[in-house]
Amino acid sequence: MSFLDIAQKRYTTKKYDSSKKIDEHTIEKLKEILRLSPSSINSQPWKFTFVADEEIKSRLAEFSLGNREKVLDASHIVIFSVVKDAEAFENNKLKLLPEYTTTYYNRVLKPRGDEQIMTWLTSQVYLSLGFFLSATATLGIDSTPMEGINTKEYDAILKDDNYKTLFAVAIGYRDKEDENQPSLNPKFRLDAEDVIRSI
Ligand SMILES: Cc1cc2nc3c(=O)[nH]c(=O)nc-3n(C[C@H](O)[C@H](O)[C@H](O)COP(=O)(O)O)c2cc1C
Repeated sequence: MSFLDIAQKRYTTKKYDSSKKIDEHTIEKLKEILRLSPSSINSQPWKFTFVADEEIKSRLAEFSLGNREKVLDASHIVIFSVVKDAEAFENNKLKLLPEYTTTYYNRVLKPRGDEQIMTWLTSQVYLSLGFFLSATATLGIDSTPMEGINTKEYDAILKDDNYKTLFAVAIGYRDKEDENQPSLNPKFRLDAEDVIRSI
């Protein structure tokens, strides 16, 4: 299938078949794909937590607002987190990166202040979301990106002090009757002339 076919067919799954689980081999591939996500100056300011454990999924579901059923029924929940602050990034990640990275960070990013650094770090994690959603579709896996979760409560469950939750993605296999699949609910996008410009 071409990438264009995948873009036309992938969609945000609203109802999962809870009897279908993603096999471990495929999960390992997804972990490796996330590890290979690109990021500005190769900063990799993220942590990706894969949850298969039903008890932890149930606890997360309680803090997943309108996404509760998806969290319960999907095969796995992947939580995307960013380093907790600029200092943690500098101490735990920057040190591991090549010198040109540190130079760019100190000259260009550091003077902008912690708030802008966090915005920049967070943007890198969102980029990995796009990479991941494309990858899951390529592997025939259905997915739901979810900002509609209580990130503070997720943090309390995950207990990873150096990172904070940004959003999560449910992955699994659609319920045959999921009303959001494109065959039942055609994809809505703005027209090309509204969003694409050629000069
Ligand atoms: C960052 C992000 C957060 C989203 N959060 C949610 C969410 O909490 N729950 C949900 O059902 N869909 C969520 N969506 C799905 C979007 O509503 C969906 O991608 C958009 O309507 C386009 O539809 P499609 O993905 O089916 O093509 C989110 C999408 C993105 C990219």
